[in-house]
Amino acid sequence: MNKTKVSIIGGSGYLAAELLRHLLPREDVEILRISSKDHIGRNIGAVHRSFWGLTDLVLEDIPPAECAAGADIVFLAMPHVTTAKVAMSLFDLDIRIIDLSGDFRLNDLRDYTRFYAPEHPCPERLGTFTYGMPELYAEQIKTARYVANPGCFATCIATSLLPLARAGALQASTVRLVALTGSSGSGVHPQAGNHHAVRSNNIKAYKVFNHQHTPEILQTLKAAGAGDIALDFVPVSAPLSRGMMSISQLDLPGDYSEDQLRRLYSDYYQPFPLISVLPEGMTPEVVAVKNTLRIEIGLDIKTDPGSGRRTLCAIAVLDNLIKGGAGQAIQNFNLMTGHENAYLLQQPGMWP
Ligand SMILES: NC(=O)c1ccc[n+]([C@@H]2O[C@H](COP(=O)([O-])OP(=O)(O)OC[C@H]3O[C@@H](n4cnc5c(N)ncnc54)[C@H](OP(=O)(O)O)[C@@H]3O)[C@@H](O)[C@H]2O)c1
Repeated sequence: MNKTKVSIIGGSGYLAAELLRHLLPREDVEILRISSKDHIGRNIGAVHRSFWGLTDLVLEDIPPAECAAGADIVFLAMPHVTTAKVAMSLFDLDIRIIDLSGDFRLNDLRDYTRFYAPEHPCPERLGTFTYGMPELYAEQIKTARYVANPGCFATCIATSLLPLARAGALQASTVRLVALTGSSGSGVHPQAGNHHAVRSNNIKAYKVFNHQHTPEILQTLKAAGAGDIALDFVPVSAPLSRGMMSISQLDLPGDYSEDQLRRLYSDYYQPFPLISVLPEGMTPEVVAVKNTLRIEIGLDIKTDPGSGRRTLCAIAVLDNLIKGGAGQAIQNFNLMTGHENAYLLQQPGMWP
């Protein structure tokens, strides 16, 4: 079998672990190298404990270009800014890149400097990566050289509003949005704000109206047909290790009934069987999609009896490390390598 050769840079992070979980069992993939700064020379199973005894792969301290040499596709699984600096040393190579960081998702440098860092290491590259959301850009991803994998919140929230945007029903609205995330969304390195002592048994809002995925969501929805919309986004850290839920509310334009709205969504996601639009009476639950590539979407409409004003509540759930990160990167990898429907993590999650 002709194997696709793969390298991973940033090997000790949570998304690298999730990439390996999906790539290691595949017969059509050869993992060439995994580079690391913190765990040089250690077996993958000593760092990501679920791999102990399953692989001889070792984390190597090698420059990015050496790690990528001979690979068909390189996954970048590092923090932003570091990633862009690493990417700069790869652009001259004959390789394709799937970047999981936020460094190449945004088209507008002003958004990047406001939400990520005062300077972008290679601003001329903004807008040159294909945005890796298969539900919107599958055809472009197939031939893309560089793919920017979407953020976890961005995937969850945009997916819950995409059919509306596509239908032209998301015009001049403000989306009022609360979204909850598990702690693995903050990555492997503990900090004061996400340490177990302050996150477990606790719920707290952070980066209120100021989360870095806000411009990414707006960019995606506008590209899909949304008008001059605004997002009032309040992120919340929840006492979970994996999983997230977004709850979006907006004034519903037009005269959709709940049934019509569900049909609009179901029709849009019909080619994407891992996205479920739930029937009336069911609401999305994080545990139902944890450990899977699936997204559940719930839709409810309230009509105010006095004013007649109609409010839509769109709720979505996903596993931040899978559909919100590495699993979506594997979907993109599959599209790029012509294995569209293979290895798509079809299994149900664990219940409860
Ligand atoms: N966690 C999620 O749910 C999620 C979802 C979607 C996207 N993302 C994005 O995907 C990227 C990877 O996420 P992650 O959760 O895997 O991150 P992570 O757990 O923090 O891992 C990042 C890895 O990058 C490497 N690294 C290289 N330079 C570094 C530096 N200067 N500071 C810290 N680490 C450095 C480290 O590995 P070595 O020591 O082995 O080099 C580290 O383990 C991030 O940009 C993140 O924002 C995360």
